[in-house]
Amino acid sequence: MRLFTPEAMREADRKAVERGYPSLLLMEWAGMKAARVYLELFGKAPALVLAGKGNNGGDGLVLARHLLLEGVGVRVYAAGGQTGDALLALQALLAHGVEVRPLEEASFREGEVMVDALFGTGLKGPLTDFYAELVERVNRAGLPVLALDLPSGLPFSPHVRATATVAFAALKTPHLLQREACGKLYLAEIGLPKPLLEREDLPEVASPEALRPLLPRRPLTAHKGSVGRVGVLGGYQGEGLRYAGAPLLAALGAYRMGAGLVHLVVPEGAPLEPLEAVFHPVPSPTLPPLKAEALAVGMGGGPWGRAWALKALEARLPTVLDADALHPEVAEAYRKAGVPAVLTPHAGEAGRLLGISPEEVAKDPLGAARALAERTGLAVVLKGNPTVVAEGERLSVNPTGNPALATGGTGDVLSGAIAALLAAGLSPFDAARLGVFLHGLAGDLLAEEKEVGLLAREVAEALPRARRLLQE
Ligand code: APR
Repeated sequence: MRLFTPEAMREADRKAVERGYPSLLLMEWAGMKAARVYLELFGKAPALVLAGKGNNGGDGLVLARHLLLEGVGVRVYAAGGQTGDALLALQALLAHGVEVRPLEEASFREGEVMVDALFGTGLKGPLTDFYAELVERVNRAGLPVLALDLPSGLPFSPHVRATATVAFAALKTPHLLQREACGKLYLAEIGLPKPLLEREDLPEVASPEALRPLLPRRPLTAHKGSVGRVGVLGGYQGEGLRYAGAPLLAALGAYRMGAGLVHLVVPEGAPLEPLEAVFHPVPSPTLPPLKAEALAVGMGGGPWGRAWALKALEARLPTVLDADALHPEVAEAYRKAGVPAVLTPHAGEAGRLLGISPEEVAKDPLGAARALAERTGLAVVLKGNPTVVAEGERLSVNPTGNPALATGGTGDVLSGAIAALLAAGLSPFDAARLGVFLHGLAGDLLAEEKEVGLLAREVAEALPRARRLLQE
């Protein structure tokens, strides 16, 4: 599945029509599928449809007709000036005897569900004047809103804040970059010829179908030395500072993702946990002889972060570089040595590596991840909502995860988890996108019970369940 820009989506629509595909069919399917989502979410609650004059409005008029046929009360307000398919959709609705009133007269009633079909991918710039006010009124009304294709106004402001959004044919960038405005996301297939959706030049949306085949299989003859051993190097002790937990959480992440054995290389005096690990207490960053296939480095490293990473490089093993190991000099050393590595920065760390502010990173996470991958020649996991994985020309946007994961230590768990997948033989890009997906899914499973108050170790514990779910 690819992540379309609104422009790329319009191009696919245009190509379908050029091939002779009747565009009215797309509109009919879109409206019909959206009506189905409406019924699933809101049952027979009366609908208030707000339709723009373009094709997004046309989708809304089709939906109104299908809801009517299902016995749902509909009130429709539409902009004037429909042409083409939207005009046909309007005529079909009028033929059913529905009164369509001018948008300017739109009023909202308690108990109604609003359908936002004002603007979709055709929006050219921020809404102003009448439409800006209308969108503000929709948001203030406090009624549930089902948005068709995109909440109107996105990717700009003001925009509708929807309860749910039905994306047509493919997800578009605002669905993942402005997820808050979209509410619950649905993806509806509307009959576009498949080849038009296969655009390898666009970022991928990580999906169960694409990731399932990457899951390392465990043969009957497996033993702890054959399924991937991970070395975790991190922690710091000195100047009253002590980050003991971070490497332990990475070790848990690695074990829970399926590592056969985890070596913990930590400062002397660090707690000997988890019991399942093999401990290598060291007085300063050093690389003891380890039997491992991959490393995770830097968690809780503090001022030792850089030294940990440069020591770890001597092993020449695939390595996850996290937290205090994220330093331009370190990335450069790994690139030069040709040692495969995955960088796992959040917006602040990525900004530091790129020499820009965290806000700039957050504004364009796809661009920032790509730039960092290009600059370092390494795989990059840019953590955030959404998390973006980049390597060379390839970009993968992760759809799992939720704000419950915003708590200390979840990033350490992720680093260990990715290292376990590297140790099992996955490439940096595959280990990164699979690890990120499962880590987010584990968070989603937990958030069903705990919206806040998650502990990072619980995320590690939920990894096997997430893995199981993906496998099914
Ligand atoms: N302010 C006001 N009107 C605008 C603005 C703006 N900033 N930008 C564009 N418009 C007008 C255009 O002039 C056009 O009339 O919005 C209308 C187009 O809006 P859309 O319905 O989003 O575009 P269109 O290309 O007709 O349809 C695309 O149709 O395939 C379906 O729902 C799907 O999102 C998709 C939509």
